[in-house]
Amino acid sequence: MSDSSISKFFEKTRKERLDIVADFANLSAEELKILQSNDGGISFEKADKMVENAIGTFSLPLGVATNFKINGKDYLVPMVIEEPSVIAAASKGAKIARIRGGFEVAADQSYSIGQIQLLDVDIKSAVKKIQESKKEILELANSKSNTLSKMDKGAKKVSCKEIDTPLGKMLIVELLIDVGDAMGANVTNTMCEAVSPLLETITGGRALLRILSNYSISRIAKAKAVFDKEAVGGEEAVDDIILAYQFADNDVYRAVTHNKGIMNGIIAVANATGQDSRAIEAAANAYAASSGKYRSLSKWTKDHNGNLVGSLELPLSVGIVGGIINVHPIAKICAKILGVSSASELAGIMTATGLAQNYSAISALATEGIQKGHMRLHARNLASSAGAKPDQVDKIVKQMIEEKKISLDRAKELLDDI
Ligand code: MEV
Repeated sequence: MSDSSISKFFEKTRKERLDIVADFANLSAEELKILQSNDGGISFEKADKMVENAIGTFSLPLGVATNFKINGKDYLVPMVIEEPSVIAAASKGAKIARIRGGFEVAADQSYSIGQIQLLDVDIKSAVKKIQESKKEILELANSKSNTLSKMDKGAKKVSCKEIDTPLGKMLIVELLIDVGDAMGANVTNTMCEAVSPLLETITGGRALLRILSNYSISRIAKAKAVFDKEAVGGEEAVDDIILAYQFADNDVYRAVTHNKGIMNGIIAVANATGQDSRAIEAAANAYAASSGKYRSLSKWTKDHNGNLVGSLELPLSVGIVGGIINVHPIAKICAKILGVSSASELAGIMTATGLAQNYSAISALATEGIQKGHMRLHARNLASSAGAKPDQVDKIVKQMIEEKKISLDRAKELLDDI
């Protein structure tokens, strides 16, 4: 199966959903077993090796968003998130985008930036000496990764910049490293530490910090989609969504919430595929403020036929090899469900998911409001918490919504009546 537009996926049982996903992604019996195993994928023994002072593990819901067509290919998008509505919203956004061909995405190759802070130097002559020793610096950096060197990747560029601080001017040396399909934090840090003594010798200075920059502006991912005017709700709805975007683009209070909606999509996929979500968030927020003012990460306009056009661009530092993907079996399975063969493909999918999410959020906000959909899900959660079986949930939810009395106590009463 290669069609991700699966009708009424949410109404299916867990087994039916798993069968669809297994069929879509060619999952093995072993992988299905891991997904079904209710322990969230890692044992305490594994957790104990991952962090210090471990006392347990902590699971979150894993779902899949349907309907995604990205660069002409269908995807089921695994999402790990605690917030109700997010997976439904992503699926809904993707369903509408699909009418006009789905998402077009593009992502840079994975260039990581490493920084070395050089102190106590005469900046002008230090820069000259560093430029003259570029080859030696790059060779030394690349000697730290046979894997990248063999693939003709690794450190490619050395550059210098001067920064002005209240404690005086400083020289910052930056390595630009092609990290292939890895997120690349470790190799970047290793290379920075490796070249620092050489930089000290060349310049006579002192290297203080030697660390990756999470502001990964050489790893920009972009997504774009046309949302059919009629499916959006007509001309007025399109115009109102554009007005909603203008609010976000011109008011920091709204922009943060608007961008949070985008990150709902991006971080859920990041969680599912074992990415460093903190790095992604930090870079995205810096990028949102790159004009000097914190703005919307997405842009919303309309085309000459009046269809809504959304685009999203942000730095996305992700990997499909190394890191947690080697450790967490579910992260590995999620990458398989996506069928990604490169880090840039994953970055493109994440950006499309962020855009789909943003569409659904601002479309709901600009039309019926967000609470209606939220309340339905909230009511479902309450009915389940009250102990309702799957076949009893709908009845309880319907009744609570009709009565406008959505609470755990009422759910319990209605369950008793049943
Ligand atoms: C809630 O998690 C996200 C939204 O607040 C995003 C937005 O306001 O655009 C709905």
